Amino acid sequence: MKIAITGTNGRVGGALSDFFRSGNHEVISLRREDVDLCDLSALREALQSLDFDAWINPAAMSSPDECERDPVLGHRINATAPALMADVCRQRDKYLLHFSTDYVFAGDTSGKCHEEAPAHPLNAYGKSKREGELAVLSSGARATVLRVSWVYGAKAPAFVEQCMARLQEGAGLEAIADKWSIPTAMPDLCHWIEHLLIEQPSALLHGCHSGEPVSWYGIAVAVHEIMRKNGLLDDDATIVPTLLQDARQFIARRPIHTAMDNHRLSSLLPRPIADWREALERVISMRRQDSR
Ligand SMILES: NC(=O)c1ccc[n+]([C@@H]2O[C@H](COP(=O)([O-])OP(=O)(O)OC[C@H]3O[C@@H](n4cnc5c(N)ncnc54)[C@H](OP(=O)(O)O)[C@@H]3O)[C@@H](O)[C@H]2O)c1
Repeated sequence: MKIAITGTNGRVGGALSDFFRSGNHEVISLRREDVDLCDLSALREALQSLDFDAWINPAAMSSPDECERDPVLGHRINATAPALMADVCRQRDKYLLHFSTDYVFAGDTSGKCHEEAPAHPLNAYGKSKREGELAVLSSGARATVLRVSWVYGAKAPAFVEQCMARLQEGAGLEAIADKWSIPTAMPDLCHWIEHLLIEQPSALLHGCHSGEPVSWYGIAVAVHEIMRKNGLLDDDATIVPTLLQDARQFIARRPIHTAMDNHRLSSLLPRPIADWREALERVISMRRQDSR
């Protein structure tokens, strides 16, 4: 399959590009310097002229704080550009897989959010991503919108990798204990997407693991336990729970409860989706083998 992927300098786009390249697919890698999503005529030209079967769009202004500082630019990248992608994919009868986020939810009730749960984003990032979702889903294109959360296990370090690095340095950790979601392992995400490219469902899906919602503190504790079990840490480290309200570095307001229900995606896949803890153990033990 010929797969065009935007944002391949990013965490998800880079990992997808590597994954599909190693799996006998032809990947057209589109970095910002190849097509700037703010330049709609350049984007339209790429969409119309490139020879692709599927277009995957993980490119985004993905920082909630950056979006809060520049909501106009955030809207252009996260909503206007995906709307154009969907429009041209519909005209050319091509499949589009667009990424969204758990930050479309207000996160004011505990438990897991289903795809049809009302979206009430609290910040400019969530609003722009929700507008992108709606534009893609209403376009008439063969398109999947895949909401993800807390992706780790790619080359670009995420919270899990930061925890591992701090613990390996022998440093203690502080982690927010009153904000919940479910972490997503990039290797599993690649396999889910490989399957979606075959099925090409026109659907809004939650691309996350199974299991109970967990906080960043809970993830840090799990990382510590798994590292100890795998012989990656000699000594116990101190992990201190903190509160979201004390995180002074955040500009944009963050939702609290955004763990997502994955039954809809699960029903489309050939194998059950793993529990987040099982996936975390697998990714950490893979890192251990790689480092040998
Ligand atoms: N990672 C997560 O935990 C997470 C959680 C929830 C949702 N998501 C969603 O998943 C998707 C992928 O996230 P990610 O973690 O891979 O994000 P990322 O690492 O920030 O990558 C985003 C990519 O988009 C590119 N980009 C930004 N503005 C652009 C523009 N104007 N033109 C062309 N490219 C542009 C960036 O290019 P440069 O490298 O040149 O800056 C970057 O390569 C996003 O839609 C994000 O909203 C991710």
